[in-house]
Order: sequence, then structure tokens, then C-alpha cells
Amino acid sequence: MAKQRRIYRCSSCGRVHSQWMGKCSQCDEWNTLVEDIVQETRAVRAVKPGNNEPIPLGSVASSPFMRKKCGMPELDRVLGGGIVEGSLVLIGGDPGIGKSTIMLQMANSLAASGMRILYVSGEESAIQLKLRSERLGIVSDDILVYPEVMLEEIRRQIAALRPDIVIIDSIQSVFSSQIDAPPGSVSQIREGAGMFMEIAKGMNTVVFVVGHVTKEGWIAGPKMLEHMVDTVLYFEGDASGVYRILRAVKNRFGTSGEIGVFEMKSTGLIEVSDPSSIFINGLGGDVPGSAVMATVEGSRAFVVEVQSLVSRTTYSMPKRISIGSDQSRLSVLLAVLEKRAGVVLSHSDVVVNIAGGMRVAEPAVDLAVVMAIASSALDKPLQRGTVCVGEIGLGGELRPVNHMEFRLREALRTGFTRALIPASNSGSLSSVNGMDLVPIAHVGDALRTFSR
Ligand SMILES: Nc1ncnc2c1ncn2[C@@H]1O[C@H](COP(=O)(O)OP(=O)(O)OP(=O)(O)O)[C@@H](O)[C@H]1O
Ligand SMILES: [Mg+2]
Repeated sequence: MAKQRRIYRCSSCGRVHSQWMGKCSQCDEWNTLVEDIVQETRAVRAVKPGNNEPIPLGSVASSPFMRKKCGMPELDRVLGGGIVEGSLVLIGGDPGIGKSTIMLQMANSLAASGMRILYVSGEESAIQLKLRSERLGIVSDDILVYPEVMLEEIRRQIAALRPDIVIIDSIQSVFSSQIDAPPGSVSQIREGAGMFMEIAKGMNTVVFVVGHVTKEGWIAGPKMLEHMVDTVLYFEGDASGVYRILRAVKNRFGTSGEIGVFEMKSTGLIEVSDPSSIFINGLGGDVPGSAVMATVEGSRAFVVEVQSLVSRTTYSMPKRISIGSDQSRLSVLLAVLEKRAGVVLSHSDVVVNIAGGMRVAEPAVDLAVVMAIASSALDKPLQRGTVCVGEIGLGGELRPVNHMEFRLREALRTGFTRALIPASNSGSLSSVNGMDLVPIAHVGDALRTFSR
């Protein structure tokens, strides 16, 4: 039997201690140490140990992996073109975001193409699953519902039934009776992930594992979980809103960064094939505090609306709230606005929001954020049909952005005819017919476009 070790993990800072103590020596918090049992798990490798010889790369026989479309184009895109035989996919997201819904819809679509699916439900009873399937209009005898939480039993059933697809909902609910730790603990999650990896590689089965996220938004459990699996998908969006974004943050069989967009309805998730149509509201020019940017996610470009509200603060410390874009980046941009363009907002609360529950992490959004803030502060809308793309440096200079032509073509397609872009981009850009390009060298130049 594998060796077990007792450790004490601080629930506040995560530091591991070899013995229990009242106060964590790292974060100085009292009574935060929680006992956990870790097991020396066998590493799962694609290479069998021993009897291997070095071979020239050119002589390695290539065998293309088998990919199968799951029939949901937005999900197929995120998976890199479809599901790959023998792969282990982790899908994480906030409570109630729609993880079980998308898994059931995918199961239905795959069952229609003749596959057998084992849906292991550790969180919901078979009746709860049935209620969801009735709401989604799913009835298929090729989906086997299996309410079980014990890993050894799950392995036995998979070996007996040999399904094409296994869905584990969720990794936090299953446990091994061999390990003296509660379900959801680090050692149980590691054991479960190791076992599902063995099943995926050993039986050539595709295993989808649902994972909870922590309040910081990371998949709960060891980071090693994300290293072990082939693909990590995050389901994002505001659970109270209608749009959901599925993002590939890691993919051994495709591009990471690819996104799929869905609309949550009572009948299930509906795919949105043209995201630009949902993230903007007209061509702007009506309301102050709104600027549109063209972003690139994976192989797609689309336009998103950045909204801002600047109001006089009633607090000694003005509030800075950023929803859908980087909070610390907002502080940097406000400092640049003050120091390089003389726009002082130290007595104002500033809220920035990317409309539609979208999250934009790339710095190319900087110019749109600054223009939305300035538009709200000046109470002047941007000229109708304007799109803003550019990164802003600490000196207030506009820095070039990649895929500019791709972005501008998408903006043009959706009706935008004027683009504020970094001057350093305009040199290398071949003309985009129908788009009036306004090269901007400095953030101050961008603000002057308001008075034109
Ligand atoms: N009757 C309904 N009409 C419309 N939408 C519904 C209805 N019931 C559920 N939903 C939507 O489905 C979501 C729950 O989906 P689901 O159970 O798939 O989420 P989950 O991510 O699996 O949640 P959990 O973390 O609890 O397992 C709700 O937040 C809601 O948006
Ligand atoms: Mg669920």
C-alpha cells in the first residue's frame, strides 16, 4: 500500500506544517491549521518505465489523435476542434454557473451520435438529474446516470461498462476509502485525479471532471490537478446574468485562450455564434461613459463595450471598482491619466465594467478603459461608431497591439467606421477599407478627440 503522511495545512494562507501548532508561523493566524493525510501517489506517465531507447525525432512514428466533434460548435471550438480519445478534461466554474447543464447537454449530443455515456453524479440524486434533463428536453437511454461517490466503485463500473465518455460531477464529491481524509481534501482530489487519468489513458475513454472553484476563482484543490489533466476549461460569467463564457485556459490538444459563448435559458444553454452581437449596444455616441474595443480571444475577434461611471466620492478613500478587467491595471491607468494628461480623479469614485459579463485581460483594452472614464468624467459621449484599441504605457504613450487588422475588420463588420489606434500600429497596417483610422501617440491626444 502507498505510504501515507499526516500534514497540517493553514486554511488561511495555505502553508503546510509537519506538526500541529496553535498559530500559523507564516500568517500568524490562530487555530487555522487543518489536518490532512497525503499519500505518495504513483505518477501517471504516458511513458512506461524501463526498456526505452533514445530514437531520432524524425523516426518517431506519428499517430494523429482521434478527435470527435461533440455536436456543440462552441464547445468543440474551446476543446480545440472536438473531444480527443483518452483525454482528461477539467471544467471549473462558480456555483450555479451551469457546469452540470453543459455536461448533460454535451452527453445528449454525444449520445445522439451513438456514444455511451456514464454520468457519475456525486452531488445530485438521479431524480434531481432527471428533473434537469426534463427541463432541457433530454431523454436518452445511452446516458447512464450513476449516483456514486466512492472511487473504487466508480472504477469498477467503468471497467465493466466500458463507456465512451465518463462525466464526474464533481471531483470534490468523490473519495477513496483507502485514504483517511474527507472528500474535497487535497489528498482525495489528487487520488481521484490520478485514478481518472489512469482510466482515460488506460481505457482510451474521455473523462470530463467537474471542479468547484475557490472564492478567488481558482479550481479548488491542488494546482497539481490542473497540471495533471490535458485540458482545463473555466465557465465564467455572472450567474445571475444570461451569458456564460467557456474558456480554455490549458489545452494539450489545441489553442488555449479559445472561448465559447452561451446564453442560459430555462431550456438550457444556447450557443451564441456571433458574440459581437451581444457585448455591444448599438454604435455608441449616445451615453457618456461608454467606449467600445475590439478584443481577440483565441482564433476569434469581437467587439466589447467598456462602461465607466465617475462620480464624486463621499468617502475619504475614493472607490475603484473594476468588473471584467484588471483591478490593479485600473489604478495604474488612473495614475497615468492624472500624471500624464492632468485628469485628476482623486476625489471621484471610478467604476469600470465590461458589459455582458465578459472578462478582458489583455492590455489592448487600456485605451477603451481610459476613454470610457474620461467620457464619464467630462460627461461627453465618444463620437458615434468609434472603436478604441491600444495599450497605454506608464509615460502615457500608446503602445502597439497585435492582430490590429483582424480586430479592425471585426469592428468594421459590426458597423464601426472610426478607430483610435496607437500611432505605432498605423505604420505597419495596410488600409482597412471603410475604417477611418485616427493614430494616437499619447493619451493626451486621445482625450483631445473629445473636443473635435
Ligand atoms: N428553471 C430554470 N429556468 C432558467 N434557468 C434555470 C432554471 N433552473 C436552473 N437554471 C439555470 O441553471 C443554473 C444552474 O445550472 P447547473 O445546476 O448546471 O449549475 P452548476 O454549475 O452545475 O451548479 P453547482 O455548482 O451547484 O453544481 C442556474 O444558476 C440558472 O442559471
Ligand atoms: Mg452541478
